[in-house]
Parts: sequence; C-alpha cells; structure tokens
Amino acid sequence: MCGIVGYIGNNAVADVLLNGLKNLEYRGYDSSGIALNDNHTIEVYKASGKLGNLYQLYAKHQPQMANAHQGIGHIRWATHGKATIENAHPHISNDGKLVLVHNGIIENYKELRNKLENQGFVFHSETDTETAVHLIDREYKLCHNLETAVIRAIKQLKGAFAFCIMHADETDKIIAVRKNAPLIIGIGKDENFIASDIPALIGKTNQILHLNDEEIAIVHKSHVEVKDTKGNTLNKTIEKIEFSPEVISKAGYKHFMLKEINEQPAILRKILQKHLPKAEDRVALADSKLNIDLSQVRNITFVACGTSLHAAYIAKATWEKWLNIPVEVVAASEFIYRYNLTDEHSLVIGISQSGETADTITAIKQAKEHNAQLIILTNREDSSITHYSANVIPLEAGIEVSVAATKSFMAQLAALYWTGMYLSEQKDNQNKFLPLKRELYEIPALMEEILSDLSDIKRMGEKLSKFKQIFYIARGIMLPIAMEGALKIKEISYINANAYASGELKHGPIALLDKDTAVIPVLAQGAVYEKTLSNCEEAKARQANIFALSNNDKDKEAALFDEAIIIPEVAEDLSPLLMCLPLQLLAYFAADELGREIDQPRNLAKSVTVE
Ligand code: G6P
Repeated sequence: MCGIVGYIGNNAVADVLLNGLKNLEYRGYDSSGIALNDNHTIEVYKASGKLGNLYQLYAKHQPQMANAHQGIGHIRWATHGKATIENAHPHISNDGKLVLVHNGIIENYKELRNKLENQGFVFHSETDTETAVHLIDREYKLCHNLETAVIRAIKQLKGAFAFCIMHADETDKIIAVRKNAPLIIGIGKDENFIASDIPALIGKTNQILHLNDEEIAIVHKSHVEVKDTKGNTLNKTIEKIEFSPEVISKAGYKHFMLKEINEQPAILRKILQKHLPKAEDRVALADSKLNIDLSQVRNITFVACGTSLHAAYIAKATWEKWLNIPVEVVAASEFIYRYNLTDEHSLVIGISQSGETADTITAIKQAKEHNAQLIILTNREDSSITHYSANVIPLEAGIEVSVAATKSFMAQLAALYWTGMYLSEQKDNQNKFLPLKRELYEIPALMEEILSDLSDIKRMGEKLSKFKQIFYIARGIMLPIAMEGALKIKEISYINANAYASGELKHGPIALLDKDTAVIPVLAQGAVYEKTLSNCEEAKARQANIFALSNNDKDKEAALFDEAIIIPEVAEDLSPLLMCLPLQLLAYFAADELGREIDQPRNLAKSVTVE
C-alpha cells in the first residue's frame, strides 16, 4: 500500500525516482509525486491518476530538474482522502523547506492535527501524512537538525509509518525511518537509494540494508548511517540480493498475469525437487526452518487474507486427516478482534505472499503473545512477518508483479502440501504418502499440457465476459478453489462473481438463477463429484448457463453443460493444484475481452499494509 523511493547521487534524480516508482506500482496507483532538492530549493511535482500522468508532467518540466542530486517519490493507494493532487505525496511544510513521503497510517493524526492547527500550521490536504510534515517541521524549528527533529517527532506518532524526509537546508542527506511498514536502503557507489521494496532497486544495486522498526537511516551520497531512537549508531549488515531485471519484465507476454500463470509448472518442478527429491523418501525440509513440537499441538489455526486465505482452506481439507488435529481457518482481520483462545497448545500458521499484510501480521503478533507455536509461509523471506518466528517456509514463486495473485497461490498450495506431509511424517515417525508423492511429480507436465492449448479456455472466458453475474459452485476440497476462481474474475474483470458450496445453492442463492446467469461447477472426481452434478441439474432447471470445469472426460459431451473444459485427472486431494490454472485463465481471458487493466485492477493493491 503506497510505495516510496528516495535517491541521493549524481544521476538524473527524477529518472531514478520514476523508474523506482514504476516498479512499485503494484503497491498502489491512484496518484503519485516526486520532490527534488535543488540548490536549497524543494520542487514538488504531483499528479493524480496513473503514474503515466506524472511522467507527462516530468516531460514538461525536465530541464528544471536537471541539477538536483537528491529526491524522494511516492505512489499512493488512498486511505485518508480521495486520490486528488492535494492529497498526493510528497507533502511539504508551510515554509516549503521540509518534505516527506509516507507509507502507513498515523492513527493519532486527528489529535495531532488539532494541536498543530492551533499552533498556526496550515494544512492543505485531508491526509494523515501531512500531520507528520508539520510535526517534524515544528521540531526542526526548535533544534535545526533534521535527524533530531525526526527522532523527536516519531516518538509522538502512533500507528505505522515508513518515511523518507528531506530538508532544503540539509542537502547532503535524506532521512529514512520505519515502524510497522517496510523500508530498505540500496547501497550503491557514490549513490544510495531508499525503497519500500526490492523491485525499485533491481538494475540499480544488489546491495541491500534492511531497516528494522524505529531505526533511522541517514542516507548520504557516499555512505549510510543507521541509528536507534536514542541516537546510538548501529552496525548493520549489507545483504546481497540475487534478482535480475528479467523478473520485472513481461518477457513478451501481454500482461504480467499471463506470464506468471505460465511460470507455474517450472516453479512447481523446482519446489518438488527441493522438498521431495525422491518420492520414496520422507519429505525433506531443505533449507526451510521448522522447529515445531507437534506433541504439544491440540489445534491448528491458519490466518491469512484474500487469495492466501483460500490456500489455507485447501490445506484444512488435507491436514485434518493427515495430522488428525482440528484445523480452523480464520480471516486475519476477524482473528484479531475475536475472543482469542489461542494458547501454548495452538499452532498458528500465517500465510502471506507479501509478508506485509497488516491484518495477518497483527494476527501472528497476537498468537505469539498467547504463546502459540508459529509457522510463517511467505513469498518474501525479507518481509516484516518473518520477524515473528524462525519457522519460515519460503514459497519460492519469485517476485509476483500482477496484483492478482496466481503463481504465488499455486506455490502456497505446494508449500502446504509438502509441509502437511512433513508434519504428518514427523508425527507418526514414518514415510507416508507414496502414491500422492508420485502423483505430485506428474503435475508440472500436466500443467504444461493445459497451458499448451488455451483456445477452449479463452473462448469460455470471452463468453463469461458477457455475464453480469457468475456463480462458482463446488464441494469439498474444490470449494476453496471455486472461491479463488470467483475472487480472481471479480478482481480483474469487475464481474459480480461468488462461490457457493453447491449444496447450499438451494438454500437461497438459487433464487438469483435465470437465463442471464452463468454457473461454473468446479468438479473433481472423488467423494462429492456426483453430488455436485445433482446441484448442476438444479441450476440447469432454472435455465442458468452452465460452464463446467471438470477432470472427467465424460463431462465434455454431457448434455447438462453448455460447455465444459476438461483437465487431466489426478488424486482428488491434489486436484486444486491443477484446477487453479484454468480458473486463473478464465478470469484472465474474461478481463482481457473487457479491456480491463489486468495487472493493476481498480481500487486494489498487492500489498495491503493497513488494517
Ligand atoms: C491483497 C491482494 C490480494 C492478496 C491479499 C493478501 O488484497 O490484492 O491478491 O491475496 O492482499 O496478501 P498477502 O500478501 O498477505 O498474501
């Protein structure tokens, strides 16, 4: 949610900032801005709407920006105040000398704003962020030292923040500071960078310094100092990251989403080689860290949001029978406000692609306070959520750029399969699951088979784009996959799509079915296949259009369905791994037919760092 960048060095500052923001667009894209410090003067350029509007503004003013050697930038996902130019960052002090960008939410901003207004500070926006500018400015006017002013001001703030701050009279530095919001420093040669996330630094530097909460980085051109809030200098380690520029290129695909869908067989192959090198062996931990005392665990709770929550529901379907321990799945935003029964006999598992989702982090924090054992599954081993437990399972899906999660979801499923098997083998101290493990090996090739001919899925997706309402129905382990399919099409095509347990259709939703509705049964042969077919009959009898996804060849010609896409059959427990592909593709092709901005759907952000 919101991306921030900073740069100090000899290169064209605006270019560096705009490139950085381009690579952070997944964090928000409703307005943007940059501020440059040029010869003791701060220049601010802001635009509402997509980043392209800021590029156009830049093109007009380029000559004025040529001499600046330091600057900060921001891309916004609006929380407080609409996506207007006034509310866009950077925000500037009344004397025009102090400027900052912010990611996070300042919770006590109303009370601070009242005080500051009474003291004569004039506000120009509706944002919580502007409070921080005037607060730091007030302190600066007392101490005339940016570092001290920032330390004094952040002690008065409640909530989450990552800030980049510049002052016109301190041209040798940018200050970066964070609390419960991500921020990293990129170390270059005679230039240094600040960013919310690694993609902004790819191609610029691979030397990274991670800031922890309430650490302050004083970023100069030639060096970076990091201090605590008492002013003590900290010894920080510089880490090397391995990302190449290709990870943030579309590699010839029309959209990142399509590229990322196509990456899935290779990702799964890599994961299997690592954790199941031989089907005959026990699941290996490889270099993942897991130290769980299962003998103490009486209940397992998954906490997650969005797509990650759906992955958790799929795990519940297998883990309960593999471990013989009750498993519940709770949306992190609900977990954190309910009566918390978690204790030392609980195993709480947080799933988060980004590792920065505020609700999931808070849920994990609370579970830790209740002495639960914890496991974190994340695609970002360097993310904030990993600070709460040493039991981190990396998803290894690579950087996901498209806001709609695809490959990370599949990697979550894979991680949940191997972790569930691993724990079950530990619990019973024996090698188990041989047939399933063998079948897992087949899946990457079967994924490739699906991806080799997309014509049927494309045609069905295009047809679906004509409907205003789509019902996804399924039972058992396919229900969460249907939920994920409905979420995917809703996110990127804006069609109203909902998933129902197919047995529940008759208890209400069936009232909505008519000849103008589409129903997508998600069918895998197994315990509840026939039952779901009966529910399809009920929908057919109400004249709904039925577009099936099935792994039974016979369904291709079944009169029950208007159309059916058939995918290869695998064991019911593993079928979500294959079924996620056609569901993602249906959403993709429906949205593409409607001409939607697939990689950056309206109102969404990839990483939701506010509650
Ligand atoms: C946002 C994204 C979703 C994602 C959810 C949880 O809403 O748009 O795609 O599933 O956050 O994100 P996480 O990074 O915690 O998995």
